[in-house]
Amino acid sequence: MDKLNINREIKKIEKELKNTIKSSNPILEEASLHLLSSGGKRVRPSFVVLSSEYGVNPRNEDTYKIAVSLELIHMATLVHDDVIDRSDKRRGRLTISKKWDQETAILTGNYLLALALNNISSIQDKRIHIILSNAIVDVCRGELFQFQDQFNSNQTITNYLRRINRKTALLIQLATELGALSANADLKTANKLKRIGHYIGMSFQIVDDVLDFTSTEKQLGKPVGSDLMNGHLTLPVLLEARKNPQFKAIIESLSPDSPKEDFEYCVNYIKSSDSIMQSKEISKQYLNKAIKILDELEISPASSWFKKLIKRMESRNA
Ligand code: IPE
Ligand code: IPE
Ligand code: MG
Ligand code: MG
Ligand code: MG
Repeated sequence: MDKLNINREIKKIEKELKNTIKSSNPILEEASLHLLSSGGKRVRPSFVVLSSEYGVNPRNEDTYKIAVSLELIHMATLVHDDVIDRSDKRRGRLTISKKWDQETAILTGNYLLALALNNISSIQDKRIHIILSNAIVDVCRGELFQFQDQFNSNQTITNYLRRINRKTALLIQLATELGALSANADLKTANKLKRIGHYIGMSFQIVDDVLDFTSTEKQLGKPVGSDLMNGHLTLPVLLEARKNPQFKAIIESLSPDSPKEDFEYCVNYIKSSDSIMQSKEISKQYLNKAIKILDELEISPASSWFKKLIKRMESRNA
């Protein structure tokens, strides 16, 4: 087996993704390629491949199939998320709803999900299919709960953490767990990798939520402050509201019809508050938990790649 190099692995997966998306209805293909070719960090497939290194049969055919399918599922959730969030931009390009229309976006999301399932249909190990379908249900629940909690200033931080676990951490947890299982890792190891994925995923969404305040439109590829505009109260807002009754009252008064300036005021308030630092600190605590479990596993090229990716994710600006 050749030496592990994640950048080369990602290239291989990119090629597979392109091949998988091709050869179907022209509109679905074009819309899917529009998203695929706009970039993306390919975090989930990277973790699938890395985690397979901890099994007896690393980087086998099933590993790559799972890697490709998880990126397709991720893409499907992004397309649907942009419909739910009414987003006009994603990865610096127009969203599918904006470039085509909402109907095309919904159908493209379904199409990508179907491709993902088809792509792993030949995998014999039933556990993979069960774990995967349960996770997709939970991602839906996470997005639904977020939708139901829009502008709800009485939600708790536990609420928030439960929601981001479902909508984001689960898919990354799936990457590490299924990567390990695909390579026949022993159950103890697969379970450790699953927990590593969970902690990385929690940190990942917290960073995403912080960046929604602190980054720039150019770096993010979408407008800043859009979470609050959509009524998504994320960790920095909830932390600030918990310690600052005045701010909580302002958040309570926000509604979809509030003037843009009110949202901008809140975004600027958060940006200059220490709730940003506090959120980053919480995100870091999750990463430290992941690293602690990683250190219980053997030291290998995979573990140093894991740490490299974790560092990259922590200091990312998009
Ligand atoms: C964005 O995920 C949505 C979240 C779950 C935070 P990514 O940050 O992995 O998106 P891409 O694929 O790199 O664009
Ligand atoms: C992403 O949450 C969660 C899913 C796609 C399931 P966000 O709404 O924060 O993602 P972005 O910021 O639009 O990428
Ligand atoms: Mg969104
Ligand atoms: Mg969203
Ligand atoms: Mg976001």
